[in-house]
Amino acid sequence: MAEQLNDEYVSVGSLDLIRGRRAIKVTVNNRNLAIFNCRGILYAMDQQCYHTGGPLDMGDIEEIGGRVCIRCPWHRYVVALDNGEGLFVNEGKIKSKGLKQRVHAVKVEENSIWVKLSQFPEEVPSDYYQSEKYRAIMASA
Ligand code: FES
Repeated sequence: MAEQLNDEYVSVGSLDLIRGRRAIKVTVNNRNLAIFNCRGILYAMDQQCYHTGGPLDMGDIEEIGGRVCIRCPWHRYVVALDNGEGLFVNEGKIKSKGLKQRVHAVKVEENSIWVKLSQFPEEVPSDYYQSEKYRAIMASA
């Protein structure tokens, strides 16, 4: 059970959970998140890939065009960890598909990892995989 610090950030556990690991999966308010550790800098985003729901916490962290990205293990799509932008390479240049994955604020305090869920008001493609509709479909499959 996540411990509430205030109205915004929620503790998802000790920093030890991610020390020496590339990523962990956590749940905040029924939302599945992946927290990534890239050389000690943490990033948080929806855990299921915007494409068809692949487990981003199982992907590889790569630097593409100077951007730190996660590469989905299912179909190899790339998402920038800092802002959830879908990226691809075309004729040697990095191109954007726009915002695809909802990102969340994450910080370390008191040796714990704290997450604040995104309040971005517009729908983001990754939202579908966090919806009751999707969960109902998966439960009946
Ligand atoms: Fe992630 Fe297809 S599910 S690339």
